[in-house]
Amino acid sequence: MGTERMTEIEEEGKRAFAEAGSDEVLRELEVRFFGRKSELTAALKGLKDLSAEEKREIGPSIQGTRTVLMEAFVVAKERVEREGRDWESERIDVTAPGIAEPLGHLHPITTMIAEIEDIFTRLGFDVADGPELENEFYNFDALNMPSDHPARDMQDTFWIESEGLDTRYLLRTHTSPVQVRYMETHVPPFRIIVPGRVFRNESTDATHEHTFHQFESLVVGETGDVTVGHFKHLAETFFAEFFGHKIDVRLRPSYFPFVEPGFEFDISCVFCDGKGCASCKGIGWIEIGGAGMVQQKVFEAAGYPRGKYQGFAWGFGLERLAMMKRRIPDARLFMSGDLRFIRQF
Ligand code: DAH
Repeated sequence: MGTERMTEIEEEGKRAFAEAGSDEVLRELEVRFFGRKSELTAALKGLKDLSAEEKREIGPSIQGTRTVLMEAFVVAKERVEREGRDWESERIDVTAPGIAEPLGHLHPITTMIAEIEDIFTRLGFDVADGPELENEFYNFDALNMPSDHPARDMQDTFWIESEGLDTRYLLRTHTSPVQVRYMETHVPPFRIIVPGRVFRNESTDATHEHTFHQFESLVVGETGDVTVGHFKHLAETFFAEFFGHKIDVRLRPSYFPFVEPGFEFDISCVFCDGKGCASCKGIGWIEIGGAGMVQQKVFEAAGYPRGKYQGFAWGFGLERLAMMKRRIPDARLFMSGDLRFIRQF
């Protein structure tokens, strides 16, 4: 087979590839020109039987033809592919608005903590915090609840195995321990709030969750400067801001070891404005939290001299308020992780 034949094959192939209009035809041409039984393959195979001189003469033209046809094949393949595409259906409108990625957002409790902090900071309060894994001293003893004190039973506690440690650890049952922690490092006068997560080892129902949130507040000044009257006014101011309308606060005598005198406080029902409805069971008042004048023993536990300072402390549960403000029927929803609930806020 001579170089002329190679030139013929080359011309023939170039034309055939240039004219090919479909994938199918291309596949046939591929077999015809490069297949095992093609002239080109036969010529390449035949090279080994030729003399060195013949090889030098014809070898390059066989290789050359093959290279040229391979290129023609690749070009044709790209062209056929391009021509076969339905460009209209692939048209992209680059100006069309994108599809929004779903974004997460803050938990309703987190938003409410921020809302409450905002109200109190505008009133000149600082925000303090303390550990959720607390020790017995701050959670109980320093708050005038020694281990034999019956008030300890009021707060079912998750104790942490503390063997070999010099103190017993627990998940804090309230935010009150932060009162003492804060006072250890600050000198009055001050006013603080302490938002925080707390834990109770009790069975859950629509109004009880083992993990929930409290707000503690502590206002301390020199003796004579801070009174129960200040507390009542502060509470009324805060709740009016929080609910967006006037709220009355009433105190009922009660007992908490870390305050004296101690109170429970109610707010006028936010649903009926104190007239009496199903939400307040016809009473017109809703129980919110505990309060009182700080026990001197608590000041002493924090290292303050007895009698020098005077102040009030109060605490309330956050879920309760959130439920009222957002009309949420079940406290367990907050910790449920149910996105259908979370996404409503
Ligand atoms: N720590 C109390 C509780 O969780 C609530 C409380 C009562 C806080 C009276 C106070 C207070 O600051 O003065 O039940």
